[in-house]
Amino acid sequence: MNIVVGITGGIAAYKAVGVVRAFVLAGHTVQVVATEAALRFVGRPTLEAISRNPVHTSLFDGVAEVRHVMIGQRADLIVVAPATANSLAKLAAGLADDLLGNTILASTAPVVVAPAMHTEMWQNPATRANLDTLRARGITVVGPASGQLTGADSGPGRMSEPDDIVAAALRAITPQDLAGRRILVTAGGTREPLDPVRYIGNRSSGRQGVAIAEAAVARGATVTLIAANLDILAPDTLEVVSVGTALELQAAVTAAAETADTVIMAAAVADYRPEAIVDAKIKKEQQGDTLSLTLVQNPDILRGVVENRRDGQVVIGFAAETEPDRDALLALGRAKVARKGSDYLVVNRVGWTEGFGTETNAIIILDSTGVIVSEAEGSKASVADRILDLLA
Ligand code: C5P
Repeated sequence: MNIVVGITGGIAAYKAVGVVRAFVLAGHTVQVVATEAALRFVGRPTLEAISRNPVHTSLFDGVAEVRHVMIGQRADLIVVAPATANSLAKLAAGLADDLLGNTILASTAPVVVAPAMHTEMWQNPATRANLDTLRARGITVVGPASGQLTGADSGPGRMSEPDDIVAAALRAITPQDLAGRRILVTAGGTREPLDPVRYIGNRSSGRQGVAIAEAAVARGATVTLIAANLDILAPDTLEVVSVGTALELQAAVTAAAETADTVIMAAAVADYRPEAIVDAKIKKEQQGDTLSLTLVQNPDILRGVVENRRDGQVVIGFAAETEPDRDALLALGRAKVARKGSDYLVVNRVGWTEGFGTETNAIIILDSTGVIVSEAEGSKASVADRILDLLA
């Protein structure tokens, strides 16, 4: 997405660097439009390095390419952080006496503002009236937070934290088509202990499940993530229940499924666990050249959820298969969805270099009768959205 970050002249401009950084790290292209005053608070080289693009300030740069309207025309989203009392007043009046004003007027993209000013200015009737005008026009206002201001005083007026601004901005342009839904997502791979230091596990990183949980939150759902041994940190916007083994996952899923209207079982669950877990480390001196383990079957958690499904509850299972041939892969998926009884089955090919642990995925979604209802390939975030489209 093409995001314009407008920076106006307040001390909170130093925190705008964090806003730019977060958008860039999330894979967006960021154009910074800073006012002259903003550049007294934060350096152009800092913003150019972090945004990976030139910083735009003057109405009289790039005149031949009509830059004063082009930046706005190309924007998918405009975020003004910080937005001073003065810049909010100009925005409310539709003034275009600088590049940022022109950019906003020339754009049809959603606009998000993060006000930052002293409490008295924030509470001034002029500022209140300007904000009413902006909100009535559909502009999203994030914050301000309350707390320590630049001087010794504190109160409402602090700019919201960069991560909160970014989250609110992305929410503002994301359809809230899962609002009101309670979704349970499992992610990661279970580990079945042999002794206090060893386990049988799998290479699932949890990336796809976490991407589904994050995308569902962004689309307005309330999400519980049951996380088994993730390779990545789950964002703190998610309610996370951490588990280790298949039996722990089963207990957590059974409890959370009672209130969930959708269950998405993306976790790679061990089909078997060691029959006995010994209390002391297994010693090769006592075992000799070979070691035999007896494994017992784990309960099929997905099957259990389907059997206890409440009215209207949607259950989505996953099938990670190493089968290279598409038709044979689909046949495995069709047999599995029939066996498991889920409403949908997300089939994905896994292997030494595919599926598990990677940044991308390719999936085929079958409905309960084995008919292909959707296919997607790309980042795990984009694949997550295609899966959630089924619910929406
Ligand atoms: O049978 P298979 O392991 O291929 O099925 C995969 C699907 O079933 C996934 O959705 C996985 O989360 C779930 N599963 C489960 N309990 C198991 C094994 C798999 O819920 N013991």
